[in-house]
Amino acid sequence: MFERTEAYWNELTRYAAFHGETLDALRGRRVLITGAAGLIGTFLADLLLAGGSRLCLVDLDEDRLTQRFGGAEALLAAADATDPARMDELFDFFRPKYVVHAASNTSPADYAKKPVETMETNVLGTAVLLKNCVKYGADRFLFCSSVEAYGQPDSGDCVFDERFSGYVDCNTLRAGYPSAKRACEALCNAYAGQFGVDFVTARIGRIYGPTVIPTDAKAPTQFIRDAALGRDITLKSAGTQVYSYGYVADCAAALALLLVRGEKGGAYNVADSGSQEMLRDFAGFCAEAAGTQLAFETGFDLAAGGYSNITRAVMDTAKLEALGFRTLTHAREGVANTIRFLRETHAFEEDKS
Ligand SMILES: NC(=O)c1ccc[n+]([C@@H]2O[C@H](COP(=O)([O-])OP(=O)(O)OC[C@H]3O[C@@H](n4cnc5c(N)ncnc54)[C@H](O)[C@@H]3O)[C@@H](O)[C@H]2O)c1
Repeated sequence: MFERTEAYWNELTRYAAFHGETLDALRGRRVLITGAAGLIGTFLADLLLAGGSRLCLVDLDEDRLTQRFGGAEALLAAADATDPARMDELFDFFRPKYVVHAASNTSPADYAKKPVETMETNVLGTAVLLKNCVKYGADRFLFCSSVEAYGQPDSGDCVFDERFSGYVDCNTLRAGYPSAKRACEALCNAYAGQFGVDFVTARIGRIYGPTVIPTDAKAPTQFIRDAALGRDITLKSAGTQVYSYGYVADCAAALALLLVRGEKGGAYNVADSGSQEMLRDFAGFCAEAAGTQLAFETGFDLAAGGYSNITRAVMDTAKLEALGFRTLTHAREGVANTIRFLRETHAFEEDKS
């Protein structure tokens, strides 16, 4: 069960105070967030609510939306972001000034088993939302893209800045997610060119934190789940992949900043430059916080499980930092906070949603 503990409120208050200027700029503004009951959407909604924004929270999962936001001062809409009639109705009623598209399948199992929905939620969802941004005169559309849009770099020490573009083998099932993210970015540019839509793209690194959906199957979540349940952490590879991670509270704060200060049409990497970790080191932080051990399972077919085979995805966050962004929580501390919170709330034992 997701519940906001005292530690969660304290952390939210600390973030709201630190990002007060950004939240002040969004106070009283109407913001529509799709995927609001997910990892990033939940913290972003909490942060904006703390700052006095008026929110319309959209998610396909009615139970989780109600469990997380029932009683909040926000308009809750259990809806599919790809549904043109429903989105039109919501835009007409709520008239959002800012729209954040954070709805997507994000779990590797879903990339493998529901690849069509994965692509459609991104591409059709983006098309429907952009159309309504034009029709109802929204001020800004924020698209949640992914580090996966960069693809595979060809050199071992590459750091992705926003101009980088690596290889994606489009003729594979697993390419659906990164290809959809690329298509959505292109669609944003198309709507900007043809209809003058103001948009910003957040290319998000690997995010973790207390608001995780307990059924999520991303590798970092599996480590965190094992740790929260007091188990040894099992890696399905040697864990030498190097990735940029980010704590969900910092990610949410970065998205809020992009709504206010991001350059029109700009793409920004969102991750913590201080959390560039090998996968096995991230797993090690989980084991350390839980007092358990690391174990390695060989022979696992990563592609069949929907996992990325990208071995290095390190992001340059200078562009975001030039807007005044600063990370407050690095990986070792963020992982420990997350595991403490999930243990306290028995999230993995009780919440099957
Ligand atoms: N978490 C990460 O590490 C990460 C990394 C890169 C990019 N992103 C992107 O950030 C965004 C948010 O990710 P997250 O980690 O919060 O994901 P999440 O899986 O925790 O939450 C996504 C939410 O979207 C909802 N959803 C799915 N399809 C929908 C639809 N058609 N209509 C309405 N709601 C729908 C789900 O019910 C879920 O609550 C996504 O676009 C994701 O691709 C996340």
